[in-house]
Amino acid sequence: MTDPVALSFAETDLEQIPAQAGRVAVVVDPEGSLSAVARRVNRLTKGALARLVEADSFDKRKAGDIVTLAMPQGLAAEALDVVLLPRRADSALLRKTGAKLAKLLGEEGLLLLTANLNAPAELALGLKLRAYDYDAQKTEKAKPKGAVTVMCAKPPADIAALDAVVQGVLFTRDLVNAPANVLTTTAFADELLALKELGVDVEVLDEDKLEELGMGALLCVGQGSDSPSKVVVMQWNGGNAGDAPLALVGKGVVFDTGGISLKPAAGMEDMTMDMGGAGTVSGVMKTLALRKAQANVVGLVGLVENMPSGNAVRPGDVVKSMKGDLVEVINTDAEGRLVLCDVMWYTQERFQPKAMIDLATLTGACIIALGHENAAVFSNSDPLCNAFLKAAEAESEGAWRLPMGQAYDDQLKSRIADLKNVGGRPAGSITAAQYLKRFVKEETPWIHLDIAGVASVKTETATAPAGATGWGVMALNRLIADGFEG
Ligand code: BES
Ligand code: MN
Ligand code: ZN
Repeated sequence: MTDPVALSFAETDLEQIPAQAGRVAVVVDPEGSLSAVARRVNRLTKGALARLVEADSFDKRKAGDIVTLAMPQGLAAEALDVVLLPRRADSALLRKTGAKLAKLLGEEGLLLLTANLNAPAELALGLKLRAYDYDAQKTEKAKPKGAVTVMCAKPPADIAALDAVVQGVLFTRDLVNAPANVLTTTAFADELLALKELGVDVEVLDEDKLEELGMGALLCVGQGSDSPSKVVVMQWNGGNAGDAPLALVGKGVVFDTGGISLKPAAGMEDMTMDMGGAGTVSGVMKTLALRKAQANVVGLVGLVENMPSGNAVRPGDVVKSMKGDLVEVINTDAEGRLVLCDVMWYTQERFQPKAMIDLATLTGACIIALGHENAAVFSNSDPLCNAFLKAAEAESEGAWRLPMGQAYDDQLKSRIADLKNVGGRPAGSITAAQYLKRFVKEETPWIHLDIAGVASVKTETATAPAGATGWGVMALNRLIADGFEG
């Protein structure tokens, strides 16, 4: 797993500034007033900061800007980064600005002087998230980043929670970035078994077991692949014994060729990220374990590979789901819902969860609707849905609710079976959600998150480089912290 950049907090110590190698960054209010720390830096640099804030051009600068002064006199550092932030900046701005500092960070480290900034930990979080770089498949690894020291008036008492979040997000990104020949279903299950070391209870259900459980929908997706299908069950029991858990369910298609309904060649390589839902569930479980969350949460992932072959499921085949519903497979490329419906049914039968949230890179239509800015949110419960949307907003993870309804469900009618696995082109994300809803029990509050557009992106985001984002780990972690703990 990719190691996060080393970062520690310390009380402000002005004596350390002149000798710091690498970079020094100092927070300055965009209004131009200099804190005691900034005044010290100003004196050391023979008035460089005062000249900066008094210059006419300073008026055009805005919060979140960073002005770099190269080879500042009076400092050993090669650069002085002047970070413009008001004392009370919101967490979105702080994280975005921290991410900008991550891009400047070199091998010799950074001394970050936050002066009297209200939430230095948010700046640090953005920095750690953006300092990530996936180089597992490169012979020549990126040069390791130097350590970051964040100096502030009052170092946060507990940085374990911050570290837990970063490690969960980075775990998700590593999984989602990994190519499909590396992250096979078996390798994925092995990664999850390693969570046992953190106190997570992990079980791997193999194909014989899935057969015995009657998961005919899930199994048909993997039947054309040489990689065995698996369901991994992760349990974190940090809450009261006997309390019903929150359940997280993830689509883990390690590669989606489309099967016999083969996808076009162009862009097919992107389907290594089709296990993004399972990746996010895995990251959340890791975060919960690392911060010893006081909640009962189960995470289940369906791991399969969708390949064409002589054994592959055909369009027109009818398969039997664990629930008992017979599904006509119209398009073998609508495989995610076939996987999820069985794992969701199993989850409810086994755990009677107090709520269930599934995540999946489910439909291309979701990208057409919402692009890469927002995941699509579907729910049968307004209170649960609103709590999630609030958590996502607080973490700057885009999420937008879409409607459901009987008319969409009607599109799933099959002539020969109980339902079919596609509802046609109109409202493709909604009919996919309607399909899943058929496998949600009346009494289960449920959210479906279609993360096709947000799990992995081609251009960098505010806090992630291009590639896997780790979307959802922070929102779900916050939802659990705010609504399912204590
Ligand atoms: N994994 C894809 C959806 C997807 C597309 C995710 C692009 C990320 C980026 C999914 O299995 C799929 O192929 N969906 C089909 C459904 C259709 C056949 C009803 C789609 O969206 O085209
Ligand atoms: Mn598909
Ligand atoms: Zn897929």
